[in-house]
Amino acid sequence: MEQHETILEVRSLKKYFPIEKGFFRRTVGHVKAVDDVSFQLQRGEVLGLVGESGCGKTTLGRCILRAMNATSGEILLKTRDADIVDITTLNKRELRALRKEMNMVFQDPFSSLSPRMTVLDIIGEPLWAQGMRGRQLETRVKELASLVGLNAGHLNRYPNAFSGGQRQRIGIARALATNPNLIVADEPVSSLDVSIQAQILNLLQDLKEELNLTYLFIAHDLSVVEHIADRVAVMYVGKIVELSETEDLYLNPKHPYTEALLSAVPKPDPRIKGNQIILQGEVANPADPPSGCYFHPRCKYAKDVCKTTAPPLTEVKPGHYAACHFADELELEGVMV
Ligand SMILES: Nc1ncnc2c1ncn2[C@@H]1O[C@H](COP(=O)(O)OP(=O)(O)O)[C@@H](O)[C@H]1O
Ligand SMILES: [Mg+2]
Repeated sequence: MEQHETILEVRSLKKYFPIEKGFFRRTVGHVKAVDDVSFQLQRGEVLGLVGESGCGKTTLGRCILRAMNATSGEILLKTRDADIVDITTLNKRELRALRKEMNMVFQDPFSSLSPRMTVLDIIGEPLWAQGMRGRQLETRVKELASLVGLNAGHLNRYPNAFSGGQRQRIGIARALATNPNLIVADEPVSSLDVSIQAQILNLLQDLKEELNLTYLFIAHDLSVVEHIADRVAVMYVGKIVELSETEDLYLNPKHPYTEALLSAVPKPDPRIKGNQIILQGEVANPADPPSGCYFHPRCKYAKDVCKTTAPPLTEVKPGHYAACHFADELELEGVMV
């Protein structure tokens, strides 16, 4: 990253889903899927967002793209005209104009592509929606196809003719069609064979460099984002519990949850045996979270204060944030990167 230019700033974002009961659908509680999340993204940066299934990653990504309305908070995007707009306050027409500036790559390339559309139509649809037609549209789709490693012969086929990795290439070409600055990649490789994952990760990395893209890169384990992310945010039950530059997070984790996730990352040399920390108990229920620090029932370092008081996300050292009462004192084990 050469320059520092904030392209996205999320401030105190919350997304609470009401839990309704009975004939009158009375609200009896809330699932706090995203609960007071704040972070910034610089142009050209990859922020990895990691956490176990159900911790709110997809919900956060969908709120940022306004595929879903947030409950509260601000999402400030720097547009191509260098205006700063709060995505949460835009009306439909304003939103449509911004659609071309940000897009999503989905987890599942099988269900996210319409089976009745040709690859040409799938990739071209966002361009069609922006008013592009005819020869111009076709030329742009061919350009996109070659960018992601597909050839012209693929364009008249239907998605079911392709393997998982190729389908994800189609999904990526579609996401890039309108030349967006910001891409939310929601577990883009987790449904693919391990042998294909590296190819798609490399493609996303190359595209990022070639097009100066900015990614929010969602993954459920730390090994996926290790090489692609500049910084990593670790999420637990709707909250960011640790955020730092990638290398520092892997070498010197400051939150016990990150330490546990790291202990599950495969070691480069299998002879190096780290102590694998098996996480005790279940992920906390976001509809009925524990008192104090949400992680305390599973934390081997927990003390009394952890049961009563939620630790705020605090800057432990420059650029390294953690939400743990004992972030300064604990000597947690990282991994070699
Ligand atoms: N549309 C919805 N209605 C109600 N609850 C939802 C909805 N979408 C997600 N949730 C809940 O919000 C929490 C976070 O889900 P999600 O963002 O999909 O997590 P992740 O992507 O990290 O696996 C989960 O408890 C999930 O059940
Ligand atoms: Mg998800």
